[in-house]
This record gives sequence, C-alpha cells and structure tokens, in this order.
Amino acid sequence: MKLVYGRLADVYCYPTYATRPRESQHFPMKSDQDLYKQLRDLPKEELWTRAVPLFNAASPRERLEQVAVIRAVGMIFSRFGTEDEKNAVRNWLINLLKDPQEKVRRYALTALPKIGAGEEGEREMLALLKDVVEDHDGREIRHLGRALEKVGGEATLVVIEEGITLPAITVQRVKAGVSRKEDVGGVLLDAWLPHLPGDSDMRVLLRCRRGLEEFVREEAEEKLSSREWLIASVKPGCVTLKPLKEFKLATLYRIRCFATVAFPLGTVSDEEGSKWVEPLARCIASERASALMLSGTEGTPRYRMEIAGRGHQRGAIRQVIDRAYALCPEILNDARQAPWSIDVLPASRGISVVELRPRLYPDPRLGYRQDDIAAASHPPLAACMARLAGLSDDEVIWDPFCGSGLELIERGLLGGVTSVHGTDLDSRAIEVARVNIEGAGLQKTKAEFTECDFRKASLAPGSISLIITNPPLGRRVRIKDMQGLFADFYVAASRALRVGGRLVFVNPLRSTEPEDPTLVREYQQTVDLGGFNCRLEMYRKIGAGKSAKRLPGKRQQEKFKSTPKAKPEEKTPAPAPAWWSKGGHANSREARRRARN
Ligand SMILES: C[S@@+](CC[C@H](N)C(=O)[O-])C[C@H]1O[C@@H](n2cnc3c(N)ncnc32)[C@H](O)[C@@H]1O
Repeated sequence: MKLVYGRLADVYCYPTYATRPRESQHFPMKSDQDLYKQLRDLPKEELWTRAVPLFNAASPRERLEQVAVIRAVGMIFSRFGTEDEKNAVRNWLINLLKDPQEKVRRYALTALPKIGAGEEGEREMLALLKDVVEDHDGREIRHLGRALEKVGGEATLVVIEEGITLPAITVQRVKAGVSRKEDVGGVLLDAWLPHLPGDSDMRVLLRCRRGLEEFVREEAEEKLSSREWLIASVKPGCVTLKPLKEFKLATLYRIRCFATVAFPLGTVSDEEGSKWVEPLARCIASERASALMLSGTEGTPRYRMEIAGRGHQRGAIRQVIDRAYALCPEILNDARQAPWSIDVLPASRGISVVELRPRLYPDPRLGYRQDDIAAASHPPLAACMARLAGLSDDEVIWDPFCGSGLELIERGLLGGVTSVHGTDLDSRAIEVARVNIEGAGLQKTKAEFTECDFRKASLAPGSISLIITNPPLGRRVRIKDMQGLFADFYVAASRALRVGGRLVFVNPLRSTEPEDPTLVREYQQTVDLGGFNCRLEMYRKIGAGKSAKRLPGKRQQEKFKSTPKAKPEEKTPAPAPAWWSKGGHANSREARRRARN
C-alpha cells in the first residue's frame, strides 16, 4: 500500500496509540523498513505533531516497534524543515541519545548528522561514547564512530587525544573534518611540486575529450619549455608529459585545451574481494602521491576516492582508507571538498589504473566565468576551437548560437580580435554571455549580444572574418528539424563571412555540408563529446568562381598545426538580402541560387 499524504491511523496497522487501550493485545507490526516508507509519505506536520508525541508517550516495547519514526523525522526535516523545525528535531534527537534502549539511541545517532548535530549533539555523543566504552559495547562504539566521522570536531579530537579508542577511520575522518572547517586545504597552484630523484617514471597526464589530443599536444609544445618537459606520448584522450625537473601546476594550467591533470600512481587488479586493498593503499601512500599532496596543498592534504565499477565494495574501500592512513597518516581521506582525488579507472584486461588528480574548483582557467547555462560548451572544447580558428589580425567574430559565450571568449583571449557578436534565442544565455565577456576583461574588443534567431542577425554581408560556434546538437537543446537548421546555418555563414574568413563549428550531423561551393572544408576531426561523437570542422570562404579542392577529413588533421593567416580581403560580391529572415528555406533551390549569387 503506498500512502501519499496518508493519515497516521492508516500507517500503523492498528488504531493509533491515542485511540487504543494502553495494555491492548499485541497487533501485528510492519517491519522497520515498511513503516519508514509509509511514515516518510506523511505531511511533516502530522509526523511532528502526532507521530512524535505518540512515540514519546509509548512504552519501551512500543518504542522499539515504532523506531522508524526517528528515521522518518530525521530524513523529512533534514530535507524540508525550516531552521526552527530543525532545531526542535535536533533537541528531540539529542534527548533520545539518553534512551535506555540501544536501538533507539542508534537510530537517533544515525539521524542527528543529517539534521546537523551542533556542538551540543557532539557533546552528548561524546558523553555516550564514554559510557559505552566503559560497558565495552563494541557495536555501539562502531555506530558512534560512524556518527562522529560526520559531526566530530575539536571536542572529539580532544577525546581522541585523551586516549579513547575509536575506529581508525573515525579518527582519520574527524581530523579531516577539523582541517576542512579551518577553511584551508586547497591545492596550491604556485607551489613547487617535487621531481623525486629516484622517481624516473613520474608522468603527468593531460586528459581531454577523445579527438582533441592533438590540440593539447600542440599547445603543450608551445607553452612548456622543452628544458623542463618532454612529451612522452599522445594517445586518444590523453597527452602524457614527463617532467624533467620540479614544476608548478600553474605552468600546466596555462594550457587551456586539456580537461584534467592527473599523476599516475600504479595499477590494481579488478578482482572481486580484497586483493586490491593493499596495492591500492600503497599507491595512495606512495612516496610520489604523498610528496605531491604534501607540497601542493595548503594545510593538511585530504583526498577523496573515485572508484569506477566497485560500488558494492564499501567494506573493502574502508579497508583501503584505513590501510593508507596507517602507511601515511599525514594524508587524510575526506569525501567532502577534498582538494585531491584518487581515481581508480578501469583500463584493460582486468586492470585498473590509479591516478592522483588535483580538484580545482573553480578551474583557474575559467576566472571569467561569472555565470553558466545548462547547454554551455565544454570549456576545453571551446579553447580547442579557438586554436583551430587560428590567429588573424583585426578579427570580427560571430557566434550564431553563443549561449554563455565561451567560444567567443576563448578566441578573444588569443588576441587580435576587434569585435565579437553573439546571437542566441535564449534571453538568459545572452545575459550570461554579457557578464562572462565582461569577466574576461577583453578591453580592446567590442562585444555585442542580441537575443534573436541566428537567421535574423543584423550583420552586413561579408563583414565577418570568423564564425565560431557550438550549435544545438539535438541533445540538451532539442531542435525539430536539425537538417533544416544546418542548411540555414551554412547559408547564413556563407553570407556573413568575408572571403578568406573561417567557419569553425561542431557538426553533429554526418550527412550535412554546405551546398555553397565557396565554403571549402579544410579540417574535420571526430570528437567524443561525452559519450557521443561529433565532427569538429573548419571551412574557409573562398571568392565566388574560385575553385578549391575539397580535402578529405583525415588528411586535414595536421592542418591546424600551422593554421594560415586569412588571405587578404577580396571584394565580396553584394549578396542577396537576408532572405532567411523572410520566410525562405535554405533547402529550396531558389534559396541556394540566391545564396550563391
Ligand atoms: C550548445 S548551446 C551553445 C553553448 C555556448 N557555446 C556556450 O558556451 O554556452 C546552443 C545554443 O543555441 C541556442 N539556439 C538554439 N536555436 C537557436 C537559433 N535558431 N538561433 C539562435 N540560437 C539558437 C540555444 O539557446 C543554446 O544556447
């Protein structure tokens, strides 16, 4: 039976306590889980004003039967309670820590961290801890340990230092929590990270979306000194660097085309069970990992674990955390706001790789990003597109689907841009693009954003030197007629571009390309956009009547290495009026004829 906004009398299997005689015969009860599921569907007022008083007035045996009330109250009020309600619930739960029955105390212990135990809650937990330690109750110590892992602060540390024995993982998490609350512990971009003499295998992985690795390599070659770095390999989705001396993360974060930085620590087998516990703990506590974390963190280094594909092995993961702490107690596990992540990623043939990754939020390269939209581009992709476009002086840019403006900004940051124009149907996107471009501080660049369909952009024909855009891909932004949209897009692009101008965009459709022969494809590369492939393409506008060989995509992959400067401007024949804003369709023969002329 599923009760939505049910009544208390329907939730319990018998008349409520209020209506039945006190010493009535025993009625069959639901399991804690069933009762919890039904109680959590009650309105919170009914839970608090009826279920809780009934629970308070109940006999010890009835309390045990109704213990799910505690769980339901904890869950509902932690999510939907006002501050006053949370205070009242907190006091109630703290009182329940004194209940003579272990099960009632245990439920209260589990609910308190959700609602926020506060200093009083922590104090009462520690008082209870002292009692249960005297009683040698290992089970309750474990439960208290779990609760203190979440709420324990300075007071708990003092008790630990006094010598009270708590599970090692509790000690570790309490220390991590205290360090977190001191508001230190961020990754230091400017710290020197060590190049350990005996560690010739040390590598740095610059991970990126598959298909973008050549951009990362090229940018790394350009921005890193060859006296300090070697490019060890370029593989799909990853460029591996070998540092030749100590280095700073800040140097790596001058490269804009990669997504994340990681340091390989080793491998572990994918076998079930605990065979991987010791090797994984040793990776975390290794000299390389600890040296990187200790040098690169403000305060005590903390790490979280991100383990792909081992979701049901919580026990083994706790063992890893315990063992790593035993091997290297200077580094603490902490699931919340940890500056470092230990990633365990399936690699091949039953082997996972273990990597250390700095968690830099916000990404230091995106200081300009004041706001965001749901359909925003992946910033490193925008950076790759800007590099693909190449440099050209006096650049005038249009992004027909500008969203939050990342492509315009990334190209702007490369320099030489006179003005940027963005159009988007979404008024919020336009607002966000405006604040972002302001955040980018592109003083010399004029920026203009218009809320309109790209077909209605008021741009003089032949006025644009670069169109750079991540159009709707038909996933997050749904479009009824993608073919039609792209056909119109090519016509609009061809018309707006000056001769020599470039069109750089992400193409989600396999079978579209401009019908207009003055748009010539120079580059095409398949890119993984997070589980689906698109093609990153660049076209160049050539003068009408000029012939150009269409170059096959593959061979063009090297092309961007030395993207040529735009050809000197040629006189563009006056194009037809903006027909696409007047109800025409780019697929019609007339439309294509007009666009060509
Ligand atoms: C993939 S998002 C662009 C993301 C953008 N590059 C960024 O950095 O945030 C595509 C954008 O196209 C806009 N859009 C969809 N159809 C459009 C149209 N016909 N004219 C103009 N904008 C349109 C959507 O509102 C959306 O913001």
